[in-house]
Amino acid sequence: MSIAGRAQVRSYIASRGTSLRGEIAVPGDKSVSHRAIMLGAIAEGVTRIEGFLEGEDTRATAAIFERLGVRIEAPSEGVRIVHGVGLHGLRAPTAPLDCGNAGTAMRLLAGLLAGQGFDSTLVGDESLSKRPMRRVIEPLEAMGARIDSDDGRAPLRIRGGQSLSGIDCALPVASAQLKSALLLAGLYADGETVVREPHATRDYTERMLSAFGADIDFSPGIARLRGGRVLRATDVAVPADFSSAAFFIVAATLVPGSELLLRKVGMNPRRIGLLHVLRAMGADIVESNASEEGGEPVADLRVHHAPLRGIEVPVEHVPDMIDEFPALFAAAACAEGVTVVRGAAELRVKESDRIAAMAAGLRALGIRVDETPDGATIHSGTLRGGEIDSRGDHRIAMAFAVAAQCADGEVRIGDVANVATSFPGFDALARSCGFGLRPA
Ligand code: S3P
Repeated sequence: MSIAGRAQVRSYIASRGTSLRGEIAVPGDKSVSHRAIMLGAIAEGVTRIEGFLEGEDTRATAAIFERLGVRIEAPSEGVRIVHGVGLHGLRAPTAPLDCGNAGTAMRLLAGLLAGQGFDSTLVGDESLSKRPMRRVIEPLEAMGARIDSDDGRAPLRIRGGQSLSGIDCALPVASAQLKSALLLAGLYADGETVVREPHATRDYTERMLSAFGADIDFSPGIARLRGGRVLRATDVAVPADFSSAAFFIVAATLVPGSELLLRKVGMNPRRIGLLHVLRAMGADIVESNASEEGGEPVADLRVHHAPLRGIEVPVEHVPDMIDEFPALFAAAACAEGVTVVRGAAELRVKESDRIAAMAAGLRALGIRVDETPDGATIHSGTLRGGEIDSRGDHRIAMAFAVAAQCADGEVRIGDVANVATSFPGFDALARSCGFGLRPA
């Protein structure tokens, strides 16, 4: 499967719609979908993945493993059957491996490929080629890997045939991608790989490695993995992506008269920081039917419109909502008063500089935003129509589609094609529950 068939929608025109009503289910979790392909590929046996995200990012990961000699069937939408080749069964690729826009693919693969017997090169699109990779290169090199880069950026040229040794590493940043890269390299390393995080981040790699039979133990903020143990295929049920649900949760909160039910949303505690923050701002979000899907907590979320007030976002929630700040900025613009974000410098190195992108976009709609190096102060106000550049960042585009539901005019959002990296069908689903949103 290739990522060539990208959506041709370049811009959205968004404006107030109706109140948001009905029941929706958002697509599968991006983080879990990437990892399921990766672990399925290097396991022994056949892994069936249900709820796989049909986004460009996760399809890029699947395409890469096909180029590494793994047979992956796609019998129907959201299903993948991965014929694992075992830890040492991947084949040398004949060309660079294209991660597209996907930071998760590039960073996790850097770790996984560092342990192979062959050379490989990872490339990405313009945005991914600007993102920092030294954070993964340096600890992998401390394990014995050899990775050449363009001054800490992609392309990454990974030399095969190195012998890796486990290390005990205290990560300088809270990053699940970095942690996961080290754990995947640790599968191929002698001895124990220990990863310590400054703040606990999403633990899907640890949970999934454990389900596939790896020799790992972990608790929030620390993981220890002993290398060499064979992985055994196991089926994976992917929960719905909380980060995709977040745009609908915020929109239903903001638009008067809304009552929206989101079915079976992934509720991993390391992902739902936004729920705590929105509730502290006054949101009315009720969880029901809590259950487990593929070892992950899921719940239905019923969201009623509620007026919000600005708050200081508690710094301890930041890692648990790292992908939700674009949505939070939209909420803050429409809340009563001032919202302060601190301790979120990582936002500057996401698919775009998300602090700068949200600040510039909100200012274009008449909202005052004071930027700081690690956050911003958002002064709520009345949004007017205007033009937004989403800088090729899927979450910036979707956040402004949400903000526009409260604007007194039409908002033209440019450079939105990358919404398809994480949320194919976003605009149609949004329209179906009441958004004013159309492709331009
Ligand atoms: C992800 C981790 C986070 C997140 C990204 C997905 C993952 O990145 O922003 O969307 O799947 O591990 P960092 O590890 O860079 O914080």
